[in-house]
Amino acid sequence: MDFLTLFAIYVVVVLACIVLVCKYSGQQQSPFTCLWDSLAKVFGPITPKWLQRFSQRAMHKLFHQRSNMFIYIHILLEIAVYAEFTYEVFGYCREMDTTLASLSVPYVLLALKTLFFYLCIKRDPGTVTKKKVDGQLQIYPYDGRLFHPGVSCPTCQLLKPARSKHCRVCNRCVQRFDHHCVWVNNCIGFKNTRYFLLYLFSLSAMAGAIALLTGDMLFHAVLRSGLLHASYLDENGQQKAAGPLFVVQHLFLTFPRIVFMLGFLVFIFFLLAGYALFHTYLALINQTSNEWYKDRGYICQHCQPVTADHLCSMSPDHSKRHFYSKGFPQNIGEIFFPPQTIHKKDD
Ligand SMILES: *[C@@H]1O[C@H](CO)[C@@H](O)[C@H](O)[C@H]1NC(C)=O
Ligand SMILES: [Zn+2]
Ligand SMILES: [Zn+2]
Repeated sequence: MDFLTLFAIYVVVVLACIVLVCKYSGQQQSPFTCLWDSLAKVFGPITPKWLQRFSQRAMHKLFHQRSNMFIYIHILLEIAVYAEFTYEVFGYCREMDTTLASLSVPYVLLALKTLFFYLCIKRDPGTVTKKKVDGQLQIYPYDGRLFHPGVSCPTCQLLKPARSKHCRVCNRCVQRFDHHCVWVNNCIGFKNTRYFLLYLFSLSAMAGAIALLTGDMLFHAVLRSGLLHASYLDENGQQKAAGPLFVVQHLFLTFPRIVFMLGFLVFIFFLLAGYALFHTYLALINQTSNEWYKDRGYICQHCQPVTADHLCSMSPDHSKRHFYSKGFPQNIGEIFFPPQTIHKKDD
């Protein structure tokens, strides 16, 4: 089965690429950045100079500078999936008597997702500014463990509010910093974590809905083809029932684009749903990804100059993991209705 081998290779490659991109789009100083650094050290001497320079510049442009690249990739992928769905799957589904109501679900989700995506991109995540810093300092108390009073950001030259962090991509300090997300080309922080969560959920739902409708359509196509009860003669002239491999091959040959899209969607769905669940978990325990990484001592010494709050994170202290939580409903409430500063001059 040649095509199965090919398909397996394809899945592995796509998997590796997506995992890499996802890891990079998360924390700037995650263990994966360190992994990249050590890989660069190992393979550095054997790669040509021009390739090194090119990949360094590309990595820098993509992950260390603001760029809309991933927003365009996101939109292109979305256009491809929706074009395929609208022009092929939709018609087949209508033939198979799928109701218009269920067929409209992906479009409704698309509208919702686009709204949250836009809000994630456009809304200020909670930049620490000279004007607002006094109010921002009062929102969260310093815990004396990850965040210490009286520390100022050497770049912004402002006092760092508790839970804030300097984003090196955007070159600003952000309140309740979660991470810099390259997919929305913005930091996720105090004021847009709520949109980010909704965005993740609508995006996973979108992938899930299209995958379900497409899977249903293919299932009905198989039922109609009668392949499940078909049989064939093998080399010895014996009659054998067509197994699942036959069905897969038949689908591959009859609807190549649709099967390809379904594979992509199922994969993306699990990835996104996992990521959305991780962020839901963080929201429920009142932590940011930044704090979560720091709490576990995942911050690499080589990636960051050693600062006071960095030193404290070197020894993970698991006993205090849920230290800040006032209970799930309050934690979620705080994300959707962030505490207000006393001087209400924001937005
Ligand atoms: C979340 O944690 C912060 C400290 O980091 C705390 O000030 C705040 O009250 C907590 N919020 C809830 C709802 O538990
Ligand atoms: Zn700063
Ligand atoms: Zn940023």
